[in-house]
Amino acid sequence: MLMLGIETSCDETAAAIVSDEGVGPARIRSDLVFSQLAEHRPYGGIVPEIAARAHLDRLDALIAGALDEANVGFGDLAGVAATGGPGLIGGVIVGVMEAKAIALARRLPFIAVNHLEGHALTARLSDEVAFPFLLLLVSGGHCQLLAVEGVGRYRRLGTTLDDAVGEAFDKGAKLLGLGYPGGPAIEIAARRGDASRVALPRPMKGRAGCDFSFAGLKTALRERVDEQRELSDSFCANAAAALQQAIGECLVDRTANALAMFRDLCPDGRTLVIAGGVAANQALRARLAAEAASQEFAFVAPPPKLCTDNAAMIAWAGIERLKLGFTDPLDFAPRPRWPLDAKAPPALGAGVKA
Ligand code: KG4
Ligand code: ZN
Repeated sequence: MLMLGIETSCDETAAAIVSDEGVGPARIRSDLVFSQLAEHRPYGGIVPEIAARAHLDRLDALIAGALDEANVGFGDLAGVAATGGPGLIGGVIVGVMEAKAIALARRLPFIAVNHLEGHALTARLSDEVAFPFLLLLVSGGHCQLLAVEGVGRYRRLGTTLDDAVGEAFDKGAKLLGLGYPGGPAIEIAARRGDASRVALPRPMKGRAGCDFSFAGLKTALRERVDEQRELSDSFCANAAAALQQAIGECLVDRTANALAMFRDLCPDGRTLVIAGGVAANQALRARLAAEAASQEFAFVAPPPKLCTDNAAMIAWAGIERLKLGFTDPLDFAPRPRWPLDAKAPPALGAGVKA
């Protein structure tokens, strides 16, 4: 089974061809990502209208490139999967309309994939991970702990009460003048820094449950920055190291509680999976791997390229869904918000994020 995947929910335009044959990443026949960084850089963040237009300009050529690289044509496909939400709605509309048009013209099944399910199932593409597993989903818009019981079966154990963890990295990097996206910039700067030189809090650490909070961390970092007469290179490196360490301690503390909750909920589950763009961070991966080992859980982190936004994960989720007979009608409406666990109450104090 060959699936075309399309991803346009944020600032990466991506198309990929994935097969269900083979093992691990060998199933990925092509995986093209066009990053719009240059388009958004002058504005210091993502401009939704610019993102939507850039997706429109690039998507046809990317899909043709993905088919070419995989050496297949539309006639070889078993289906077309596109991110149906959550995300910046203009971009999601571009990808969904394109996928519907291909599905209609080629009489192929259309699968609308929840972007978060794409991240969640990536570990089953890169590694052979069985259900159930505990998922730490850490991206630019999300920070959640979920029990994943099957395709489409998610139980949220904890979530952020304010900012997503990727935002903490991005806003921290902006305060330190390290550029966008902040995660990779903080990770690189942190290698040269001494975390003990800049004091930052550990929000929620030691509390019951496994919710997160990152807004206070950002405020504290702003105060440390305001105390400086000038932003020296060494201060920025120390602050980056301190921010990454504080975030790491919070993630480990919350995940430790979630592992205990998950053990009660799913006694058969013995795997901790990390997914989403922030999961590309090597220091955080090492901390979480150690915590998983101490609780006798296996730890699975997909390769960094599959952690940040890509279309291979959307194609793979499409394969998993199609195999279960889950397809979507051509009047599917793109969704700006689309929680994985529809039964979970909205997080206390959660803003407008999906
Ligand atoms: O999953 P993703 O590519 O897009 C969303 O769905 O949000 O995640 C993007 C986020 C950004 O906030 C980015 O700064 C963060 O992932 N990120 C990282 C790293 N690489 C990307 N954060 C920490 N360390 C990294 N190496
Ligand atoms: Zn994402």
